[in-house]
Amino acid sequence: MLDAINNDLALTEEDFQRISDVIYQHCGINLHDGKKSLVRARLAKLLRMSKCRSFKEYIDYVLSPEGQGEFSSLVDSISTNLTSFFREKNHFDFLTGTHLGRLCKEKEKTSQPRIRAWSAGCSSGEEPYTLAITLLDYFGNRGHWDIKILATDVSTRMLEKAQMGTYDRERVAPLSPEQLRQYMVPNTMEGRKVYQVSAALKNRIKFRYLNLMEKWPFDIAFDFIFCRNVMIYFDKKTQEKLVNRFWDYLDKGGILFVGHSESLAGIQHKYKYVLPAIYQKT
Ligand SMILES: C[S@@+](CC[C@H](N)C(=O)[O-])C[C@H]1O[C@@H](n2cnc3c(N)ncnc32)[C@H](O)[C@@H]1O
Repeated sequence: MLDAINNDLALTEEDFQRISDVIYQHCGINLHDGKKSLVRARLAKLLRMSKCRSFKEYIDYVLSPEGQGEFSSLVDSISTNLTSFFREKNHFDFLTGTHLGRLCKEKEKTSQPRIRAWSAGCSSGEEPYTLAITLLDYFGNRGHWDIKILATDVSTRMLEKAQMGTYDRERVAPLSPEQLRQYMVPNTMEGRKVYQVSAALKNRIKFRYLNLMEKWPFDIAFDFIFCRNVMIYFDKKTQEKLVNRFWDYLDKGGILFVGHSESLAGIQHKYKYVLPAIYQKT
């Protein structure tokens, strides 16, 4: 019954404008006109669950003090969380192929060599876990290396998944048999075979809620920042601001990885171009 009602509901221009304004102000996601049907479809589900009778009623509720909890569901449902293990693999090949070797030589001169990385917009965790696998594969037999990864996202639902670290068999397909054996523990969940990220891998990563549009409550000079397939949802002005904020959180020589569909063309910045979607602070 409610399904039928929802299908008939119209998302007016005013409703859409209110939603896009509030989402843009909150997390920088730019919901242009082309996104209207997507927004409508995603809001219809929330409407159904919250038992609101119209989009207007739902938006009023979300923006009211009582609707604060629902606001994070709204952000969760509007943001796109698509990700995978070893996505855009040439970034990880770049690390193991040349960059880590050079970095290693440099850092081994210090008494406590360490690596700090940030996955900004980590979604359900595949990106930071891939990075951890890559780094542990590389540094595995150099026990004195201190390796830590910060993984942040604005979606609490995705962070819960990431923290849980349980993935279906198809999702871990990009891992080699050796990586599967070393970093994943086979398990069953609701009758299906799943893989659980090992404690050794998980211990390297701290998952935290962080809205990139807000203050960043840490003072770390990272060796790598991965902010891939996040800025694609932001407008140029927001992208430029973010890319330049990352500069202050990178160590000298540190690398910023962006998604392959997110070149920094048209953005004013100080990075040196290294390879497609790879930029260095010099
Ligand atoms: C498409 S996923 C990309 C995941 C991963 N980086 C990758 O490339 O596979 C985009 C992620 O960015 C997050 N995101 C969007 N806006 C954000 C913001 N303002 N602050 C933090 N994370 C944000 C979304 O919640 C989503 O999980």
